[in-house]
Amino acid sequence: MDTIQESVRAHYAQTAIKIKQGGSCCDSSCCAGTDAVSGPIGEREYSPTELRELGLSLGASLGCGNPTVLTELHPGDVVLDLGSGAGLDVLLSARRVTPGGHAYGLDMTDEMLALANENKERAAVDNATFLKGTIEAIPLPPGAVDVVISNCVINLAADKAAVLREAFRVLRPGGRLAVSDMVEVEPLPPVVKAALDAWAGCIAGTIPVDTYREALQTAGFDEVDIELTNSFGPGDAGFVGQSGKIASAHIRATKPA
Ligand SMILES: C[S@@+](CC[C@H](N)C(=O)[O-])C[C@H]1O[C@@H](n2cnc3c(N)ncnc32)[C@H](O)[C@@H]1O
Repeated sequence: MDTIQESVRAHYAQTAIKIKQGGSCCDSSCCAGTDAVSGPIGEREYSPTELRELGLSLGASLGCGNPTVLTELHPGDVVLDLGSGAGLDVLLSARRVTPGGHAYGLDMTDEMLALANENKERAAVDNATFLKGTIEAIPLPPGAVDVVISNCVINLAADKAAVLREAFRVLRPGGRLAVSDMVEVEPLPPVVKAALDAWAGCIAGTIPVDTYREALQTAGFDEVDIELTNSFGPGDAGFVGQSGKIASAHIRATKPA
């Protein structure tokens, strides 16, 4: 594990422990400032009814959007969530793909996987599986899934090209990618780009929209669409540094049929 990945893992291990002790993710700074970029979590199009039925609170989300509303999920679909955290998007997806479908969550942090499995038990969802591994080397065979989702995680990877190649590999032809993530809108200062805590806080690892689009196309994706939502910069809560700007984005792409 490289230095960036280890520092991200350690950060989210601590976050999982804090959530388990009764805090919400953002008491301990998950993706720093995501409330500022995405609005209060309750406004991220999570249905209160669905959450209530799962027995989950909104504090279980560490994301910067809601990828489960960026594409349609159908009964029978197989869904994979890259960096599944406490499991909210996996459990929501699992319910939407019944009957016959399955939702996988992939995360490298043992403490998050434990939390996700507890949430799965509480929600009584039996068509979801949490896998341990990295999003740079997905432990699933080629063409195994219909939809790849991810919520505020790809920015955390040092090798984003590897992540997108892997997402492409595990999708079936015609499969869809639906991602909420942070992107860089105005260049961040080098001191911020080099700060490991800013990396774990979903700031330092962001890349420009054009770079993201090119990486998706290089991986083989078609119909790439990147829509910026809220932006976030100096003066906003959780933002480190005196210049630069980042934004939350809805990212969609398709693997050619
Ligand atoms: C900001 S949280 C988002 C969690 C979840 N997607 C959500 O919206 O609540 C980032 C999660 O991704 C995981 N993660 C970060 N980098 C990863 C990597 N390279 N491979 C696997 N998991 C990773 C962390 O362990 C953490 O659970």
